[in-house]
Amino acid sequence: MKVCRLDEIPQLGARVVETAGVDIAVFRTGDDAVFAVEDRCPHKGGPLSQGIVFGHSVTCPLHGWIIGLETGEACAPDQGCTRRLPVRVDGDEVMLGLA
Ligand code: FES
Repeated sequence: MKVCRLDEIPQLGARVVETAGVDIAVFRTGDDAVFAVEDRCPHKGGPLSQGIVFGHSVTCPLHGWIIGLETGEACAPDQGCTRRLPVRVDGDEVMLGLA
């Protein structure tokens, strides 16, 4: 599905896409890579879309877990994983693949 244009997501920011029952956070990093993960921290469900993006990671706004956007996994010593979704940029449109 089409999400928006790439320039509608701020660099180091995210946009939330509401799908059936699940919110998906689509991130744009400082180097214009895009990543999509479920907008739920694997710790206690914090909204990752409101976290701070650095490199290809995001810091959860609730308790500071760091989630790698390429894998959806929390950085050690924390353990957990949030679901990733395929996302790509087609021209200037951000396209999300819903599993
Ligand atoms: S809910 Fe994300 S660190 Fe606790």
